[in-house]
Amino acid sequence: IQNNYDLLSKWVADYIADKIKKHQEKHSRPFVLGLPTGSSPIGTYRELIALHKNGQLSFNNVITFNMDEYVDLEETHPESYHSFMYHHFFDHIDIPRENINILDGNCEDLALECSQYEEKIKAVGGIDLFLGGIGTDGHIAFNEPGSSLSSRTRVKTLNTETRQVNSRFFDNDINKVPKLALTVGVGTVMDAKEVVVIVSGHQKARALHKAVEGGVSHMWTLSALQLHNKAMIVCDEDATIDL
Ligand code: GLP
Repeated sequence: IQNNYDLLSKWVADYIADKIKKHQEKHSRPFVLGLPTGSSPIGTYRELIALHKNGQLSFNNVITFNMDEYVDLEETHPESYHSFMYHHFFDHIDIPRENINILDGNCEDLALECSQYEEKIKAVGGIDLFLGGIGTDGHIAFNEPGSSLSSRTRVKTLNTETRQVNSRFFDNDINKVPKLALTVGVGTVMDAKEVVVIVSGHQKARALHKAVEGGVSHMWTLSALQLHNKAMIVCDEDATIDL
């Protein structure tokens, strides 16, 4: 638990930077990093960019896999997760473009796209660290309540709460929020060697409480992390207090 969002962001960025550097000292194979979108990781991305700009961190030997993407939202749309990731992170670091993997929600065969994504993750030796955020309903990636805890990358229907919350990015109009998304599964996240989840703000307090102090439940998919042997939630004070 960190006192506030800025300290949380700095803490997570330093943790990830340290992991990447230590990995690079020992291995020649790339470090494989899973990444989220949303407002929660923006501070962490800002801090990672600062470390890179100071010459303290290179992403030259890092491969990334994003957690999710909307279906049928153009890649160039400002709210696509493609746009988000380039705007907030990739455009400011030295990661080779071919090392970036983001699900394509506009392709012809969504099921094939999902199975190939799983294959790609396997082919590079699995994810070393999956960074995540959560929704107010406790979802990790877009694994809405009721998702199987062994789910893999697939198409998911977004629930009304998620679309309502995300409508702030779509002129506050829920009808403009896509109804479907592609998302890695809970099982995909659980396969990562390590998982770090950022939880910030009062609006996440109920989900955090359910996931950490409740039992493991597919109704609060973050709770699956209770069964992971190297998972950590980094939150701010606000996330521990439900108003
Ligand atoms: C979306 C994303 C999630 C993210 C969540 C929380 O639903 N698919 O991966 O964790 O938003 O977003 P925020 O951090 O803006 O609260």
